[in-house]
Amino acid sequence: MKKSILAIAVALLTLSACNQQGNTKPETTDTASSSNAAIENIMTRTSIRQFKSQPVEQEKIDIMLKAAMAAPTAVNLQPWHFIVIDDKKTIDLLSGQQPTNTPLLIAVCGDTDKTTMPDGKGKLPEFWIQDVSAATENLLLAAHAQGLGAVWTGCYPAMERAAEVANVLNCPTNIIPLAVVRVGYPDEAPAPKDKFKQENISYNTFGGKKQ
Ligand SMILES: Cc1cc2nc3c(=O)[nH]c(=O)nc-3n(C[C@H](O)[C@H](O)[C@H](O)COP(=O)(O)O)c2cc1C
Repeated sequence: MKKSILAIAVALLTLSACNQQGNTKPETTDTASSSNAAIENIMTRTSIRQFKSQPVEQEKIDIMLKAAMAAPTAVNLQPWHFIVIDDKKTIDLLSGQQPTNTPLLIAVCGDTDKTTMPDGKGKLPEFWIQDVSAATENLLLAAHAQGLGAVWTGCYPAMERAAEVANVLNCPTNIIPLAVVRVGYPDEAPAPKDKFKQENISYNTFGGKKQ
């Protein structure tokens, strides 16, 4: 356990050092890849928008859904619902500007009926958005870990898009689409973007430097 924590720390320090030196190589450093598969998976995920027609196996879908529902959730309310869409007509209807060659969509939704505090003290406002976002990221990572590609396409709080998706999917009013994740076997291989920026980090107070 101690060993793996140390390995992650070393990997992260190495990534940070690379960036401080102005190295813009995507953060898939050998250290990260050789030391920890989870970190490697995070660092190499990138949005995929072109897919092969090959369908996604049910076992892989189940793992994505399990990973999504393993996300942290405020007061453990789990205010989410997932709609798996493999029907070509519905995929076409939901695709908008996106290519329609995606074999699978997963609509990741908030369920506002599941936002009531367990002690009956009213609703937990708006935290469902964070819970469902965390679930969406877990889903993307589980797709990537299984050799699939995926892209998050945004719905809520773009109300028009959320309403359009809810309408196509026949959602009751408590079910709010936050994202439609497009999933399939990648038909493109874009390099992961290097988004690490030292300037986005402060220590102790905003703008504070590491002592
Ligand atoms: C909230 C959110 C909404 C997004 N909506 C779209 C979208 O509608 N269409 C799309 O092609 N990509 C969408 N993306 C994917 C981003 O464009 C992508 O994550 C970003 O460019 C960074 O690239 P990367 O995922 O390859 O690291 C969205 C991502 C997030 C987090």
